[in-house]
Amino acid sequence: MSVLDDAQRVAAKFEYRAEELNKGVKAFISQMHEGLQETGTTLSQIPTYVTAVPNGTEKGLYLAVDLGGTNFRVCSIQLHGNTTFSLTQSKVAIPRELMVAETSKELFGFLAKQIEIFLQTHHGEHYQAHLEKRNTMGAHAALAETELFQLGFTFSFPVNQIGINRGTLLRWTKGFDINDAVGKDVCELLQSEIDALHLPVYVAALVNDTVGTLMARSYTSPGKTGTLLGAIFGTGTNGAYVEKLSKITKLKTMQGSDYDKSTGEMIVNTEWGSFDNHMTVLPNTPYDWDLDNESVNPGIQMFEKRVSGMFLGEILRRVILALTVNPQSRLFSDKDSGENELHSTTTIAGDSALYKQWGVDTAFLSIVAADSTPDLGVIRQTLSRDLGVDAATTEDAEVIKLLANAIGRRAARLSALAIAAIVIATGNNVSRGGGEDDVVDIGVDGSLVEFYPGFENMIREAFREIPEIGEAGEKRIRIGIAKDGSGVGAALIALVAAQAEK
Ligand code: BGC
Repeated sequence: MSVLDDAQRVAAKFEYRAEELNKGVKAFISQMHEGLQETGTTLSQIPTYVTAVPNGTEKGLYLAVDLGGTNFRVCSIQLHGNTTFSLTQSKVAIPRELMVAETSKELFGFLAKQIEIFLQTHHGEHYQAHLEKRNTMGAHAALAETELFQLGFTFSFPVNQIGINRGTLLRWTKGFDINDAVGKDVCELLQSEIDALHLPVYVAALVNDTVGTLMARSYTSPGKTGTLLGAIFGTGTNGAYVEKLSKITKLKTMQGSDYDKSTGEMIVNTEWGSFDNHMTVLPNTPYDWDLDNESVNPGIQMFEKRVSGMFLGEILRRVILALTVNPQSRLFSDKDSGENELHSTTTIAGDSALYKQWGVDTAFLSIVAADSTPDLGVIRQTLSRDLGVDAATTEDAEVIKLLANAIGRRAARLSALAIAAIVIATGNNVSRGGGEDDVVDIGVDGSLVEFYPGFENMIREAFREIPEIGEAGEKRIRIGIAKDGSGVGAALIALVAAQAEK
């Protein structure tokens, strides 16, 4: 058996057929329903207390910070009130050791420090004026005298939100693991570090990145149609959508603060990364199984572990390694025949990233999917540059392409499952007729939708295989990238919160 045959056999394990997809959609709808009725279900369906989406006329200067994956971003956003905005931002990679720090103070102290640096750099005048007041009248009086920056805190982890700027961390995801933060109010943790530095900043809103994306898309999207869903397909994956208040029956039993009921709607953060944690319908392969077992949170975020950027590279790494051990059909085993001067033996460096957990970045899958050169030269170069595999053959590269595509395609089809379920469950019966304006608007963000070639097309192909959506419905679903969505969205929610305080 050739290595290519072997690879085909493995790739087939990642096929996710229409029948399974449709079964998945039904299960998702039923788990959505459960989550609206009670707490502690697999789909958390977290009420956000955000009850209105913006219409583009909002104005003002706001700060936003974003913690949720690889980087921490601080930005200030000037909303112009005509659906446009200007954004100034800085970004730092979060040191790995802070993601798994002993105490949350280490992480939140670092975040506050970045806010201070940002203010010094980009809002020097305001910051200096505040410093001078502080020197003349003392820290407390200065804070009372200065106009505080209202800050929207995008915190992209599952949080039990109990008010617009209050929420306790339910669990960490995406490789973060700081025990003492679980159960604490993350706004308080950030505010107390901001106060320790005496910064003129008030944490006015707590926002999940999907909620920010939904708000930002609603602010900028064309036409009158409000946005239904904000979704992230990046390091992690999740979606937030507009739900009828009357359907969120668990609100009655929850200890939540007062909120405006006039719109009859509320944005719900599904936390779909944990869809089907008990594995009733999700596809499974030995590679998924091992990845989960060796992760910091086994049995949790089972959907996310098959869909999002943090995990796809790791699945591929495991598959590749498995194909390098079979002596009969071994990947990367080309021997120098000596017949051709240019020919040389394929080697894997001892310290190759292939041997390290999380060693393969999902960006590698995007590069692989994009290479359509006849001899797959880009894949072979990337194997050598990033993964220490020298002189891989074209057949090796074909194998990599086959496997990476299978993993990427399954992720896109699962993504379609979640989006379709929400479109159907909210009664947006897109498969039936409707006028020109009858679109369902969806805002998305994240490295997979942005950079993985054909990700949206694969999602759309899957939509067409779902009878409640079909060919006609697929055309009615409008998907737009909400670039910097979480920053702008957090600013918009800080604005709403500040208005409510007045
Ligand atoms: C988190 C979500 C977040 C998503 C995308 C997931 O791991 O649980 O809260 O929205 O990642 O960043």
